[in-house]
Amino acid sequence: MSQVLLVTGAAGGLGRALVKKIEADASASGTRIAVVGRSADKLREAFGDAHLHIVSDVGTHEGAAAAVSACTESLGAPTQFAHCVGNIVLAPAARTTEAQYRDVMRANLDSAFFMLSAVIAAARSANQPAALCFVSTIAAQIGIANHEAVAAAKGGLEAMVRSAAASYAANGIRVNAVAPGLMETPAASKFLSSPALREASAKQYPLGTIGTAEEIADVMHWLLSDSARRVTGQTWTVDGGFTAIKPLVR
Ligand SMILES: NC(=O)c1ccc[n+]([C@@H]2O[C@H](COP(=O)([O-])OP(=O)(O)OC[C@H]3O[C@@H](n4cnc5c(N)ncnc54)[C@H](OP(=O)(O)O)[C@@H]3O)[C@@H](O)[C@H]2O)c1
Repeated sequence: MSQVLLVTGAAGGLGRALVKKIEADASASGTRIAVVGRSADKLREAFGDAHLHIVSDVGTHEGAAAAVSACTESLGAPTQFAHCVGNIVLAPAARTTEAQYRDVMRANLDSAFFMLSAVIAAARSANQPAALCFVSTIAAQIGIANHEAVAAAKGGLEAMVRSAAASYAANGIRVNAVAPGLMETPAASKFLSSPALREASAKQYPLGTIGTAEEIADVMHWLLSDSARRVTGQTWTVDGGFTAIKPLVR
């Protein structure tokens, strides 16, 4: 079956890394790719003339539905979907404004729900299987100070993934997520803006170093592929051991 991959947040750090990985995978050479972002210029800068460019704000129901319709009309209903949209606002709850909270929920949870709904509707209407992959964060799995809003949004996303996986398993539709720790992309640049900040961040991860978009894209690529055909309803943590282990302090 020839694949149609739809990537949202495609011009961001993780979106670009995932598209690059799929472009380089010979076994995915027949895959047609649609890239979604809010800025035509950013999509052109990231991908040139390659792929179908869809300009849409998927933080709204209409924007998400329009993005999936544009893909379906030009390439067919998505058989693989990667949702790389999100932002990071760090502040304790008492110092998070309503505007910041709404922005975090829109980018991280609303967009995920609206895209889930639109992609599954297209797959059901085409009567075809599909693999969907969302992006959470380790802050949804362990309490990390000053992450209240993003933890709420991504915790909702992880619960949504499990429920949707249950709803559509019988239709051959798999729904999974990855949960990165700090990852070197534009969204994280303010936390990595000096050697001292980088060193302090890297020290928090038992395996050392700061995560890269390519490492997360590797796992997403696998989850979207047929090699992960028995995997659904899961959130795969890729965090250098941050949430699972506590090494001896030397
Ligand atoms: N970087 C990290 O340390 C880290 C850690 C844990 C989880 N994550 C998650 O990883 C995913 C990818 O992020 P990234 O690190 O690649 O960041 P990024 O480079 O900033 O890319 C994020 C993309 O999300 C889109 N976006 C942001 N707010 C949006 C909104 N309100 N509506 C629609 N689109 C919006 C932007 O698309 P436009 O091109 O349209 O502006 C941007 O390209 C996100 O879900 C993020 O929460 C990142």
